[in-house]
Amino acid sequence: MRKKVTVVGAGNVGASCALRIADKELADVVLVDIVEGVPQGKGLDMLESGPVQGYDVSIVGTNGYEATANSDVVVITAGFPRKPGMSRDDLLLANYDIVSNAAKQAAAYSPNAVLVVVTNPLDAMCWTAFKVSGFPKQRVVGMAGILDTARFRTFIAEELGVSVESVTALVMGGHGDTMVPLVRLASVSGIPLAELLDQATIDRLVQRTRDGGAEIVKYLKTGSAYYAPSASAVEMVESVIKDKKKVLPCSAYLEGEYGFTGVFAGVPVTLGAAGIEKIYEVKLSQAEQSMLAKSAASVEELIDILKRKMAS
Ligand code: APR
Repeated sequence: MRKKVTVVGAGNVGASCALRIADKELADVVLVDIVEGVPQGKGLDMLESGPVQGYDVSIVGTNGYEATANSDVVVITAGFPRKPGMSRDDLLLANYDIVSNAAKQAAAYSPNAVLVVVTNPLDAMCWTAFKVSGFPKQRVVGMAGILDTARFRTFIAEELGVSVESVTALVMGGHGDTMVPLVRLASVSGIPLAELLDQATIDRLVQRTRDGGAEIVKYLKTGSAYYAPSASAVEMVESVIKDKKKVLPCSAYLEGEYGFTGVFAGVPVTLGAAGIEKIYEVKLSQAEQSMLAKSAASVEELIDILKRKMAS
């Protein structure tokens, strides 16, 4: 049977995800958006690039969820992007309504899907999708760590003048200003970063990573990044669809891991057909653990606001 991926939100991130999925021939794609005509038009346009690009998948755009039935993966990108001066957290309440609606409908039509959440503020939106879908925690996973890590790797490679493919790194924690780039674990073909760059340079690259999203927003002015975010989300889709079991930093629901409970945060996981198949508990130094605690606490604050909203 052919695989099927639904992408909710046919804006910059969603449309880029759909195109990348088609380009990689991972699955048939259903693109959903509330704006009439936009998912239909973009979907048809993508379908018509198949003969040229050489991909052979079906791409359908729609305003409802019927056509999404029995998707293997649902990627949720619907929601408002940031504008200059806004933090991801400023999007909380507006995107809560959008993501709860999308997750509820998608879950009803595809009860066995893996939900990949992209909408910001990411970790709080994962929690929202987890609560409203009623899905097991393994099947709700957020895209953040791959993007933050990709930014860190890009800046390291650029600084050293080496291939990005030789740079490995890991960024954990919430997808916000308090994210935790683990410098100790960054390396270039196994050579620790600290042996290649001085502390001031490393600090500068860490800060640029933390501000990576804002740097793009500042350039674009009317929206936020979408090429690297869609590439990152599609790496997750591919790992699930092909059951690759890649080990990737993703936002996962924690129940005791790293000492946190009831919160989503970025941690390394194995991602396969069943969703999150394992969460890795990296041994952290005291300083790293306290940075992670600060990051988890900032996600908790947002979740508390949502809990109060749900109760009212
Ligand atoms: N259901 C489906 N689609 C919706 C809904 C909804 N309830 N509400 C809004 N949308 C659609 C919009 O019509 C728009 O096409 O979501 C799309 C969002 O697209 P963009 O405005 O281009 O935003 P984008 O850059 O794609 O970012 C989307 O991803 O990275 C995050 O922070 C980013 O939260 C933002 C999200």
